[in-house]
Amino acid sequence: MATNRTFTMIKPDAVGNGHMGAILDDILKGGFKIVAMKYTRLSKETAGAFYAVHKERPFYSDLVHFMSSGPIVAAILEKGNAVEDFRKLIGATDPSKAEAGTIRNKYAKSIDANAIHGSDSDENAEIEGNFFFSAFERF
Ligand code: RTP
Ligand code: MG
Repeated sequence: MATNRTFTMIKPDAVGNGHMGAILDDILKGGFKIVAMKYTRLSKETAGAFYAVHKERPFYSDLVHFMSSGPIVAAILEKGNAVEDFRKLIGATDPSKAEAGTIRNKYAKSIDANAIHGSDSDENAEIEGNFFFSAFERF
């Protein structure tokens, strides 16, 4: 995948609190084009596999429990400098440290329930997009 793509999930807290539409609007107004998108719910197994990189971290089981607690929206997004620009749009992991106007500042309540995921590198953007979408869905 080219460096102009990133992967996102609108997390269960944000979907459950009715912020899905507002967040998608922020993403589109931020200049991102939606390449692929799906509304689904992760099993514990799927959430565990997606976050396997964090398996040894103390917050892993809470993270897996939270990410499988309700529906999510998964999407591949396109824009120049996508990974870095999207991390700017969503703000810091801890919403109390997220800059005003960012998605986490506006819609997240805690470091666990932090509204949205954004890939942290081009390499992970490709791995994560491939995890959710088959080749024909991400043309
Ligand atoms: P994400 O992957 O969800 O976009 O978040 P991130 O890059 O900003 O943060 P990351 O380090 O990848 O952590 C993944 C998710 O785990 C939860 N977390 N909790 N309690 C803690 O110290 C802690 N640290 C991370 C967060 O929900 C974070 O989004
Ligand atoms: Mg991360």
